[in-house]
Amino acid sequence: MTADLFDAAAMYDDDYLHFFASPEGDNGPTHGPVVGTAYAATSGATDIVWRLLDLQPGMSVLDLACGHGALANSLAARGCKVTGLDSSAVFLDRARTDAAAMTVDVEYVSGDMRQLPAWTDRFDRLINWTTAFGYFDDLTNRKVLDEMARVMRPGGRMAMDLDNLSRFLASYTPSRITAARDNGDILVDRNDFDPLTGRFEVQRTVVRDGRARKLTFLKRLFGFPELRDWCTAAGFTTVAGYGEDGEPLNTQHNRMILIAELQ
Ligand SMILES: C[S@@+](CC[C@H](N)C(=O)[O-])C[C@H]1O[C@@H](n2cnc3c(N)ncnc32)[C@H](O)[C@@H]1O
Repeated sequence: MTADLFDAAAMYDDDYLHFFASPEGDNGPTHGPVVGTAYAATSGATDIVWRLLDLQPGMSVLDLACGHGALANSLAARGCKVTGLDSSAVFLDRARTDAAAMTVDVEYVSGDMRQLPAWTDRFDRLINWTTAFGYFDDLTNRKVLDEMARVMRPGGRMAMDLDNLSRFLASYTPSRITAARDNGDILVDRNDFDPLTGRFEVQRTVVRDGRARKLTFLKRLFGFPELRDWCTAAGFTTVAGYGEDGEPLNTQHNRMILIAELQ
């Protein structure tokens, strides 16, 4: 396995849930200059995924990098057989707690998207949501696509929800307040986009309960044609791009949803 480019555990922790997954934060911005209120809560994202992936009750679905399980639990509530994999113990705990409260059954697995378990040909559908792809060097990012293809059944489909590069760059700012709470808790980000690597690096200051800490994370940004070609090389066919409203991708969409079918 390759060396990590940033400390994912420091990024995807309780502070992240505090700002981005609390009831107060339901309509708050997520981590990008523009991604904000792209979906009307979890139900909006569920509706789009349901339609674009032609989901049916009973289908087996892998939510890869499922985070705190909002989408995984919601798809399970609609009758899918859902497995959620993530590397964050804090997020998986929250996902399991929410699943129990919703009385839905989801198989939550602690793991690394670079090396998935022995799940070859197992899933009808795969989702990878809210910019949960592009955290590694490019060779490894492409290996993650190979892993996705490996665990899906022939004819299966996957959906990835990422920043829409054209809109993202149009609203790029070198720094911004990404989230703020009434009690004074605040996230401030300093951003740096490198056009030579396509990497967007963020130096984040988290202020919570009067205490500040700093962390760094990065993600790879993609134009549609590049990621389509990566997917094709990994064995996917008929790769299509949509925006958050499910219409064909255009420059005004905040999000790029890539739908790819496996041969
Ligand atoms: C931006 S969050 C998205 C979470 C979720 N998909 C959602 O829509 O809320 C990215 C997720 O990737 C997970 N992650 C980061 N590195 C990972 C890795 N190597 N393997 C598995 N999950 C990872 C994080 O723990 C985090 O839950």
